[in-house]
Amino acid sequence: MDKHILITGGAGFIGSHLVDAMLARGYRVSILDNLSPQVHADGEMDAEGWPTYLDRRARRIRGDILDEGVFEVALEGVTHLAHLAASVGVGQSMTNIVDYTRNNVMAAAVMLEVLSQKPHTVERIAVASSMSIYGEGDYIRPSTHAHVTADVRPHAQLEARQWEIMVDGEALEPVPTTEEKLLQPNSIYAVNKRDHEEMFLSVGRALQIPTVALRLFNAYGSRQALSNPYTGVAAIFISRLLNDQPPLVFEDGRQMRDFVHVQDVARAFATVLDSDRETWDVFNVGSGSPVSVNEIAGVLARLLGKNIAPEVLNRYRVGDIRHCFGDIAKIEQAYNFRPERDMETGMEELIAWVSRTKPPVDRSAECLAELTRGKLVV
Ligand SMILES: NC(=O)c1ccc[n+]([C@@H]2O[C@H](COP(=O)([O-])OP(=O)(O)OC[C@H]3O[C@@H](n4cnc5c(N)ncnc54)[C@H](O)[C@@H]3O)[C@@H](O)[C@H]2O)c1
Repeated sequence: MDKHILITGGAGFIGSHLVDAMLARGYRVSILDNLSPQVHADGEMDAEGWPTYLDRRARRIRGDILDEGVFEVALEGVTHLAHLAASVGVGQSMTNIVDYTRNNVMAAAVMLEVLSQKPHTVERIAVASSMSIYGEGDYIRPSTHAHVTADVRPHAQLEARQWEIMVDGEALEPVPTTEEKLLQPNSIYAVNKRDHEEMFLSVGRALQIPTVALRLFNAYGSRQALSNPYTGVAAIFISRLLNDQPPLVFEDGRQMRDFVHVQDVARAFATVLDSDRETWDVFNVGSGSPVSVNEIAGVLARLLGKNIAPEVLNRYRVGDIRHCFGDIAKIEQAYNFRPERDMETGMEELIAWVSRTKPPVDRSAECLAELTRGKLVV
């Protein structure tokens, strides 16, 4: 049987790069996407309403994964399933709780019920999970080198603008987070992502369909929805800088994150899907090189030729963690996969794409006001 992949959310940022990666590997590719307006409203669309960046060789199905009839039809002849469709704003998930849970968890239930009850030809599944399910990253106490499970920082500490995680007066040191770390999701989005990961792994195992969940760190690169202020810090910063506004940085900007280029993320999916490994497991997909939010703002300003420093808000977004970056040894050991793009060339790719697209609308102020109204920014 020919290899045929169905990519849910295939019109989106990561999904569209996966479309390219799977076509390059000789797969037939189908996309199931509802072209959510929040993601696609400001993008360049073709006459049929699909993003112009999508490769025309892919079969395109406009539909909702919550619609079991549509999903069942889309599965016809499919051997590989990549599930990426989701609502992806961490902050927004704390106010639009029903929508997020429906789209990210009920949708998984609908898909899995179709897979378990209807005839199909799916041999392998990969789903997009997220680093957000860890909550805080892994830490050690500098004085003892012991690992510490860090809790969400107490409100009183944050109100005092004390950002680092403290134990007995000692600031903890962040270290790479492995897949073994206790899951401590602290947003609705993260709870949804954990649930959908576990649902796919448990039903995938029951059906004996090898299933992998990739815990993606912060993806960036071309085709990111530049005007959607709820996602993608790199895109948000670029949109601010192009509008000659300083990037707005929460806390003190020294929080460490893990930015992984979207083509590396797509290659990680392609690698696990194209493998013969019989496994039901989770893997981090990160860059292996942590960077602070201030550093990101600095790199972007430099590459865009703007002499604009970030505006450090000294405010805290509810649900945000202090530091988290990935230990990426497990996927390397299992699949011989390593990311290839460094930050500089990765950001250049993003900026080159931005300069070819229509100027982004900067909605950061609107978004900050909405989060402040919802008491989600302190
Ligand atoms: N971008 C990141 O940094 C990041 C990090 C961790 C995890 N992830 C996960 O990766 C996946 C892809 O994220 P992305 O950044 O490409 O997001 P995106 O918003 O660009 O793409 C998601 C796509 O899914 C579609 N979609 C949403 N709901 C749908 C539904 N009910 N039915 C059909 N299509 C629907 C949207 O129209 C969009 O095209 C998501 O599951 C996300 O949770 C992303």
